[in-house]
Amino acid sequence: MSVPPFTIRPAAPRLDGPTGPVAVAPGVHWVGALDPGLRNFDVILKTANGTTYNAYAVRGSDGVAVIDTVKAEFAGEFFARLEAVARYDEIRLIVLNHLEPDHTGAVPELLRRAPQAQVRLSPRGLPMLRALLKDEFALYDIKGVTTGQSVSLGDRDLQFFTTPFVHWPDTQCTWLAAERVLFTCDLFGSHYCDGRLFNDLVGDFRFSFEYYFDRIMRPFRSFVAQALDLIEPLDFGIIAPAHGPILRSHPRDYLTHTRRLISSRLASETGSEKTLLIFYVSAYGATAQLAQAIHDGAAESPDVRVSLFDLEGGEIAPFLDLIEEADGIALGTPTINGDAVRTIWEMLAALVDIETRGKLGAAFGSYGWSGEAVRLVETRLQGLKMRLPEPGLRVKLHPSAAELDEGRAFGRRLADHLTGRAAPREVDFAEIAAR
Ligand code: FEO
Repeated sequence: MSVPPFTIRPAAPRLDGPTGPVAVAPGVHWVGALDPGLRNFDVILKTANGTTYNAYAVRGSDGVAVIDTVKAEFAGEFFARLEAVARYDEIRLIVLNHLEPDHTGAVPELLRRAPQAQVRLSPRGLPMLRALLKDEFALYDIKGVTTGQSVSLGDRDLQFFTTPFVHWPDTQCTWLAAERVLFTCDLFGSHYCDGRLFNDLVGDFRFSFEYYFDRIMRPFRSFVAQALDLIEPLDFGIIAPAHGPILRSHPRDYLTHTRRLISSRLASETGSEKTLLIFYVSAYGATAQLAQAIHDGAAESPDVRVSLFDLEGGEIAPFLDLIEEADGIALGTPTINGDAVRTIWEMLAALVDIETRGKLGAAFGSYGWSGEAVRLVETRLQGLKMRLPEPGLRVKLHPSAAELDEGRAFGRRLADHLTGRAAPREVDFAEIAAR
C-alpha cells in the first residue's frame, strides 16, 4: 500500500513516552529523552509540541556505541535507558555528531562512567568538546574523523560523513550500513514530541518539520544541499535524527522534501540577470531621493534588474524569499537619535533566517547631525557575511543635484560589482571607522 511522505494519524500527540529504551533496528536502540513541555528552543524557536533529544545505542559483536546524548537536565532519563541495553564497560565508542548542548549535556558524565570509550567527532568539533570537558579532555581517547573514516564494532561498522554547517561548523552524519540506519543529528529533525517516536505512528508533524528547516537550516541551505549530495547515495532504510520522529517510513521522501525546501521558492524571472533590491525608510523624503537615484544608476546596467521598496509600505516577512534569491541588497535609512530606524533594524534582524552569505550589501541614507546609521547598517551586513564592495553613501539633509549624481554613480558601481565589471573588493572596518 502506498503511504504518503508524511503519514498522518488523526490522533493527538502522545506525551507519555516509553519508560525504557525503544528498538529502532536489530542492535539499535533509542535511548533519548522526551521534553513535551518545552515551548521555546534556543530562545529563537517556538515549540508548540515540545521536542525530543534522540540518542542511540548501537550494539556490535565487539562493543557498544553511543550516538549523541541529551540536554543536561534529561541525563537521568538517558542513563536509565542506556543502562537497560548496555553496561558502561561495554561502551567502546561515543559518537558526537554535533556539539550543541542539547546533544552533549550528558557527555561529561557519560565519559566518567565509560572512560575507556573512544570519542569520535568531526575535527571542527574538537575545540568545542575541549571547552565542554575542560581539564578532563586530556583523560580520554578523543579524535576527529572525516568522511569515509569508520570505526568497527566487530560485526558492524559506523562510518562518518562530514556535513559542516547543518547547522554548526561541527555537524556530521553517521552511517550504520549493516542496518541501513543513517544518524543525522539536527538534519531532518523536528521539534515535535510524541512518545510513539516513529513517523508512521505519530501525528501530523509537517508543520514542525518545515518550521524547523526554516528556522534552523534555511540560513545554511547551500551547506544542506552539499550534505544531501553526500548522503543521498546511501541506501538508507531509516533516518534517525536527534529531534522529533524517527523516519522509518519512506525516509527518502524527507530528503526529497528537504531538497524542495532548499530550492528557490520563487520561479526565477530574471534568467542570467543579476538582481538588486533597494529598501529604504525615509523621514522627510531625502533618503527616498537617494534611493531613487541609486536605483536609476544601477538600472542603467542592462544586466541588472533593480527593484525599489519603501519599507514603510510593506511588512518584512514577505520580502525574505525575494532577498534570499537576490544577488544584492541596499538598505537606506535616515539617522534618528544616532541610530538607524527601527524598521531597518527589524529587516536586518529578520535576515538571520535566510542565507545571506556572499550577497552584495550596501547602505545609504540622509542625516542631520552625526549620521551613524549607515555605519551601523554596514557593520550588521558584514556580520551577516555579506560582501560590501562600496563604502556607504551618506548625505547631509536633502541631496543636492551633485549628490544625486553621486547616488546614481553609487548605483552604477553596485551594478558593476554585481556583474563582475568592477574588480572584486571589500570595504574593511578600518576604512569604515576612518570615515
Ligand atoms: Fe539540536 Fe543544533 O542542536
